[in-house]
Amino acid sequence: MTGLDLTGRTAIVTGASRGIGLSIAQALATAGANVVLTARTQESADAAADLIVGTAIGVGAHVVDEDAARHCVELTVRQFGSVDILINNAGTNPAYGPTIDQDHARFAKIFDVNLWAPVLWTSLVTRAWMGEHGGAVVNTASIGGLSLEPNIGLYNASKAALIHLTEQLAMELSPKIRVNAVAPGVVRTKLAEALWQEQERELSASTALDRIGEPDDVAAAVAFLASDAASWITGETMVIDGGQRLGDVAPFRGGATVGA
Ligand SMILES: NC(=O)c1ccc[n+]([C@@H]2O[C@H](COP(=O)([O-])OP(=O)(O)OC[C@H]3O[C@@H](n4cnc5c(N)ncnc54)[C@H](OP(=O)(O)O)[C@@H]3O)[C@@H](O)[C@H]2O)c1
Repeated sequence: MTGLDLTGRTAIVTGASRGIGLSIAQALATAGANVVLTARTQESADAAADLIVGTAIGVGAHVVDEDAARHCVELTVRQFGSVDILINNAGTNPAYGPTIDQDHARFAKIFDVNLWAPVLWTSLVTRAWMGEHGGAVVNTASIGGLSLEPNIGLYNASKAALIHLTEQLAMELSPKIRVNAVAPGVVRTKLAEALWQEQERELSASTALDRIGEPDDVAAAVAFLASDAASWITGETMVIDGGQRLGDVAPFRGGATVGA
């Protein structure tokens, strides 16, 4: 068995009804873990759990709803006997445009879902299980948290804060709990449609690895970070972006604007 074997472990993946979260849930189940998939409604969580090949249940829980989160964690421990892995994946971006044009409602929603929820869920799993028995937490950040972009300033600020929070929690919860993050580039999901749907060809042509990301690209890295293969890694943010953060690759290949 490799360190990627998760047989006997139990994982909660927030925001797992589609996209990156659903792929992460399948990757963890494929490695042998029992998986609890959350989404805002019980129906979509159940539908996603039905898609998983392996042992999986769905739990309806808005990530910011503390009672629902506590219920989910308690149910997980009751049903499977532990909660060894937490993937703080649910994320949102209701704001688009200059940062000074945004309002407090959008700010609060972004920071509640993208930053407070990882604190809340990490706190709950630590108290319920990991604080005593150990575990691994992986947060889904973004390369936007490592760079500057127009129009999604608040979202990127929330992801920058999540990267910082990952380091903070890695220190506070050491040595029993490892806390890491992934920072995906543009991945083919509903959330990021505005970033790839109309310009996939151009984006792929400017990316070192010639394509946008697929949810499985991120899921493989998350499964690694959650597993014993990463047992000496904590506080890290792994960039998974096909080289997008490196900049436009076209000039490096002798063309000024490949694909434009
Ligand atoms: N796609 C990208 O290019 C990209 C790049 C970097 C980072 N990310 C990050 O990756 C993560 C997953 O995003 P995605 O691209 O896979 O998006 P997606 O396809 O839109 O999926 C988002 C998931 O989160 C759930 N969700 C949304 N709000 C929620 C809430 N308040 N409580 C519980 N669940 C909630 C959704 O379920 P329901 O709608 O069923 O509730 C859905 O399962 C996010 O943290 C996002 O910021 C994405």
